[in-house]
Amino acid sequence: MAGDLIWEGVALACTFGLRQRITRTWLDEMAQNRWGLDDVPWDRIVPVGVDSGIVAVIKAAALVEYNAHSYAAHLGKVFAEDPSFQAMAQEWAAEEVQHGLALGRWASLVDPAFNFEAAVARFRDLYHLPQVSDSRSIRGSHSGELVARCMVETGTSSFYSAVAEATQEPVLRFICQRIAADEYRHYKLFLTYMKPCLVKDKVSRIGRAWIGIGRILETKDDELACAYHAANSDGQAYDRTRASQAYEWRAFRLYRRHHIERAVGMALKAWGVSPQSTVAGLARRAAWWLLETRVGRLERAAV
Ligand SMILES: [Fe+2]
Ligand SMILES: [Fe+2]
Repeated sequence: MAGDLIWEGVALACTFGLRQRITRTWLDEMAQNRWGLDDVPWDRIVPVGVDSGIVAVIKAAALVEYNAHSYAAHLGKVFAEDPSFQAMAQEWAAEEVQHGLALGRWASLVDPAFNFEAAVARFRDLYHLPQVSDSRSIRGSHSGELVARCMVETGTSSFYSAVAEATQEPVLRFICQRIAADEYRHYKLFLTYMKPCLVKDKVSRIGRAWIGIGRILETKDDELACAYHAANSDGQAYDRTRASQAYEWRAFRLYRRHHIERAVGMALKAWGVSPQSTVAGLARRAAWWLLETRVGRLERAAV
């Protein structure tokens, strides 16, 4: 027992420098890749003929992105004794909020009836992040929290890549290409930071896969459904199943096989499974089959 504690102390001391190095590298990378709303060529927007389904999911995405500071507050509590991580989490949240602002502005230009601020207020009334008041991660450890973050960044990176390829609207394509690159950088950050955390947490591959699958399934919870409803409803009462299905149908049909295969590779890497393994090949095929089946069902249900 005493031996374990000594080993844990040594391991933590050894990872301190590594965590600081990751922080410095990431903050440098962020400064090099920084873009702002003024870099978006707003005057090239072509608002006519944009797919209404894409507009609807972009409005919902704008609200979730803009709410990132609530999640950063939660991360700040979970990593309360790690100032390096807290510094990164603040910068990370600022990038996510900017994603929300860019998408919200684009949606308002394409659909002048869309009031971003009013939609944000409706969303915040409807949805409250469940973990914000907790100082312990519901994932059980810092590594578990980072696996969950990797799943979210995998999902957003693939979603914006899919939108960028699906849309003909040049400004939305410009914005989504930049956001997809940011999300991939966020994924790499959380993945890299997980390595020193795993030294003390010792979460197995199966444990990481379990947390990851749990987080993927949570995409069916209230957050996206509430955002979709707040952004797109015309005063109807909130119906979670209906809003969730409406979002899924409009978002899932944008994906192509290569988006899903890349997302599966990213998720498996976070679980410690090689994207080149036989398991990875089977997982890629299964994920694409699941997506096609779900899209078919939603299409038949005409949501
Ligand atoms: Fe984002
Ligand atoms: Fe992100």
